[in-house]
Amino acid sequence: MTTDHDLPLKKILPISSSTSNEGTLTIGDCSTRDLANEFGTPLYIYDAKTLRNQASGYIKAFNAKWPYGVEVHYASKAWINVPMAQFLAGEGLSFDVVSGGEMAVLQKAGVDVSQSAFHGNNKTAAELREALENKLGQIVINSVDEIELLESISEEMGIIPKVMLRISPSVDAHTHTATTTGLVDSKFGVAIENNEAYDACIQINEAKHLDFRGIHMHIGSPIFGMEPYIAGVKVGAQLIRQLLDVGILISDFSPGGGFAVAYINSDNPPEPSAYADAICNTLAEQADQLSFPPPRLIIEPGRSLIARAGVALYSIGSRKEIPGIRTYVAVDGGMSDNIRPAIYGSKYEVMAAERPFDPAEETVTIAGKFCESGDVLARDVELPVLKRDELIAIPAAGAYQLAMESNYNLSLKPAVIMVEDGKAYVIRRRETYDDLTSLDVVNQIGPLISSTDSR
Ligand SMILES: Cc1ncc(COP(=O)(O)O)c(C=O)c1O
Repeated sequence: MTTDHDLPLKKILPISSSTSNEGTLTIGDCSTRDLANEFGTPLYIYDAKTLRNQASGYIKAFNAKWPYGVEVHYASKAWINVPMAQFLAGEGLSFDVVSGGEMAVLQKAGVDVSQSAFHGNNKTAAELREALENKLGQIVINSVDEIELLESISEEMGIIPKVMLRISPSVDAHTHTATTTGLVDSKFGVAIENNEAYDACIQINEAKHLDFRGIHMHIGSPIFGMEPYIAGVKVGAQLIRQLLDVGILISDFSPGGGFAVAYINSDNPPEPSAYADAICNTLAEQADQLSFPPPRLIIEPGRSLIARAGVALYSIGSRKEIPGIRTYVAVDGGMSDNIRPAIYGSKYEVMAAERPFDPAEETVTIAGKFCESGDVLARDVELPVLKRDELIAIPAAGAYQLAMESNYNLSLKPAVIMVEDGKAYVIRRRETYDDLTSLDVVNQIGPLISSTDSR
């Protein structure tokens, strides 16, 4: 007899994963075969229980360790749409947004943004105005020139926004170069070196139309060890003390996000409580040693809130065997819905969703259907010999996949559903060919088109 405990990849699948009587992978008590039949593939499935579990895990872990006020901002860039924003707000989360588009989603979702924050290394004047009009809780200033830009917009609008300064603390997060952000050679944040961050804080504090609240950093992601956070908090604490020496008391501090998740079985990410212990203990220690009042803490988990909740479901298509070299098994999605393997070399596990317990029979490379050789979802994975139309599931697919999707080769963006207790809810319908041409302005360039007669 099989039990849940035997389910391969259980550690990285959504927490509600199990198998049906037929032995098919189920998520939220929904059979993946039934879901594929009803909604088609590629299909993105979010498990409501895992989302709830992750949200409450971070909220509880940090509140338990930090009695001076905690806000958990979901980093929307990991993926958001209107129903997802409403769902996560319902779980007690606020948001970190980085564009007018992400703000527009929150507005449309009707969620409270009074505790959310606007980030980004090149916010446009129009976006800053939108943030002020939308009464976003805080603006996180990223550069010295943004201080003047925001000050002039705030003055013009007669608003005094709460602001934080993002600093670059010179801490190496030891992640992929594309996702390391806390070093001096980074487009993010004002450098701690040469007192640049200190000077920027003084400038913000002196600005009449800015309400200076605190220090922010995000050093990279995913961060498996505690050292980068500990080092970052210490740098932040020194700056808080320096500011207090000239009478500036900051009320908010954020070490950002970047908390790790398991993409493959051998990944062992720390629990939220381990991050909470490291960050809160260090901050409390520093507040004590350097004699400053403990600030409010804002954390910004993105992937760690949503990655495990998501599973990508694909149908098997063609197979190409290159004897002695490699066997490619192609699926009906690929780099248009998951570009992470192509740009970061990210690794994923793959499950034969309709027979997860079958023994592996061969080593194959799961390719997408797009016109790039780099369009590969998983290299050298061990699987049973899969037949055309069988389903595969790729776990830990919830973060930065749909967020970076494209219409490459004019593919249709997949449907997205949320599941719980045997019910499936569509949160985004599959794109249609009409959607693909909906932005095209036709009948405008008639005079530019040579007639077929004259060719
Ligand atoms: C400012 C900021 N906060 C939070 C995050 C979220 O990172 P993660 O999804 O790895 O938690 C990012 C990611 O780029 C970020 O730039």
